[in-house]
Amino acid sequence: MAETLAIHGGRPVRAALLPYGHHAIDDDDVAAVVATLRGPLITTGPAVTAFERAFADASGARHAVAVSSGTAALHAAVFAAGVGPGDEAVTTPLTFVATSNAVLYQGGRPVFADVRRDTLTLDPAAAARALTPRTRALMPVHFAGQPCDVEAFERLARERGLTLIQDAAHALGAEVSGRRLGGGRGLTIFSLHPVKHVTTGEGGVITTDDPALDERLRRFRNHGLATDAATRDAHGRLWAEMVDLGYNYRLTDVQCALGLSQLAKLDRFLARREAIAERYVAALKDQPGLTLPQVVPDVRHAWHIFPVLLDTPRLTADRAAVYAALRAENIGVTFHYVPAYWHPYYAARGYARGLCPVAEQAAERLLTLPLFPGMTDADVADVVTAVRKVLGAYLR
Ligand SMILES: Cc1ncc(COP(=O)(O)O)c(C=O)c1O
Repeated sequence: MAETLAIHGGRPVRAALLPYGHHAIDDDDVAAVVATLRGPLITTGPAVTAFERAFADASGARHAVAVSSGTAALHAAVFAAGVGPGDEAVTTPLTFVATSNAVLYQGGRPVFADVRRDTLTLDPAAAARALTPRTRALMPVHFAGQPCDVEAFERLARERGLTLIQDAAHALGAEVSGRRLGGGRGLTIFSLHPVKHVTTGEGGVITTDDPALDERLRRFRNHGLATDAATRDAHGRLWAEMVDLGYNYRLTDVQCALGLSQLAKLDRFLARREAIAERYVAALKDQPGLTLPQVVPDVRHAWHIFPVLLDTPRLTADRAAVYAALRAENIGVTFHYVPAYWHPYYAARGYARGLCPVAEQAAERLLTLPLFPGMTDADVADVVTAVRKVLGAYLR
């Protein structure tokens, strides 16, 4: 006799909700923040420089520019790539809207191309077909933490004179052929939101090997001013000249002190995320009604999230019902993502459904299971129990 689902009045697998993601802050992090708060500078000071150096090293890039969010990082990257009114950038629909919104901020037009069926990352062949004389940038996303086809996009960018902007908001620490994501001639952006690999509360970073792009990014995050205060003083100038239309996208020293302390634990966080993903795979690989994430050879997956695909034809319930049943068991499942162009703002601007069928079909079946470094083995076991219980109840 199957156990009654919590949604039908049965006992939930957990007493309290397990979130899908959560920050991991320890006493060292708190001490680092407090020490900075007691110091002479709480913004535009030495913690920013130290964090940027450490982040560049952690991502294998020459330069790293810290900004106030991953969204600001995307905006800065699109600006630095020279995308302007009427220009196009090709990106994936299976992303958070911040990716394509950044193109709109600069007056450009996001062009959506379809994803690969296995990894759900932007398909290089589909992206190549979407290029027009107006395309300035390629914006693939390392969905869930799995690297997209970086080499194919680098080649395409080189051949067609485009700037490659990699959205690595999910993928700090991910690798392709043993190389961390972040270096190269283009731009890579990261998010430091609390559910990401390391956090500064809110925050973002852009990395590049190109010193000219680095300089443009630094101006952009500081109102478009040609020099920062320290450089200006060193040159004996009374004011800084504004040469671009920039913003105040600066990240504070307080946040960077937290970021620096968090970065020291990145390898541990990555290892724990990997171990949780391995547990899910071992426990759920034969579970009917479910397809697990597929990992391609020669990459290190950073496991920001664990998105599964429901085999809805095998189930008597639709995704919404499975979602509600798992939430009732106190498992904080969620979705990544509704295709960006399904949002009303995009739909009202001429983006029609049916544009990217592979992404659309996947989007209707995706469900994200909890994954964060602070999860215990017992938490993982609860998720597995709840998934088996709910899918077991709804199998045809
Ligand atoms: C793929 C992707 N890009 C960009 C962002 C924006 O980052 P932030 O929330 O730090 O602004 C996110 C945030 O979740 C994201 O998932």
